[in-house]
Amino acid sequence: MKLLIDDANIAAIKNICEFYPIDGVTTNPTILSKAGRPPYEVLEEIRAFIGKNAELHVQAVSRDAEGMAAEGRCIVKRLGKNTFVKIPSVPEGFKAMKILSGEGINVTATAVYTPMQAFLAAKSGARYAAPYVNRIDNLGYDGIQVARDIHDIFGKNNMQCQVLAASFKNSQQVLELCKYGVGAATVSPDVIEAFANSPVIDAAVQAFIQDFETLTGPGRTLVD
Ligand code: G3P
Repeated sequence: MKLLIDDANIAAIKNICEFYPIDGVTTNPTILSKAGRPPYEVLEEIRAFIGKNAELHVQAVSRDAEGMAAEGRCIVKRLGKNTFVKIPSVPEGFKAMKILSGEGINVTATAVYTPMQAFLAAKSGARYAAPYVNRIDNLGYDGIQVARDIHDIFGKNNMQCQVLAASFKNSQQVLELCKYGVGAATVSPDVIEAFANSPVIDAAVQAFIQDFETLTGPGRTLVD
């Protein structure tokens, strides 16, 4: 499962990338609005930091297919080939997905709440479909199960599309999809940090250090 950061805060992205193995960054208009700066200024900064080979996902905001397609071309032109254009999984969006995928532009179908949206997106040429796990949960449905169903639909129909699960609020939700082997998950920095954050883990590591120092002296390591 690929692991992406769902954020546009450059300091938070740099901090997470320093410590953890990250495959890319996803954004959406709400995330960009929180940055409070011109969108391309922020996106170009993220691209420069993560490098040209990492995935960057950027959402189109037009209401019609032609507008979405025009945005998609512009996004890829400015941010590089390995930039995925996020297109909402609505009727105009499926039309835009067909246009953009036909031009060889990578598409991520977003705002996915149902398996059949993902099915249509895959048939329209999307490379990823992004089910919103926590938002689906909040509607009273099972977001994890929707993501699993989409993964199975793609596999059983030999579709060249993968799940890019999104909208997580805790590490347990990510774990469930990691166990299922979905293609990718995009996760906010605070939830990524929660993957390996526990006083029990810290205590175990501290005890090893103290035992070693008892043997060799304060501050000594295997370099000394
Ligand atoms: O971009 C889609 C996803 O990241 C939304 O997450 O936290 O706003 O439900 P959230």
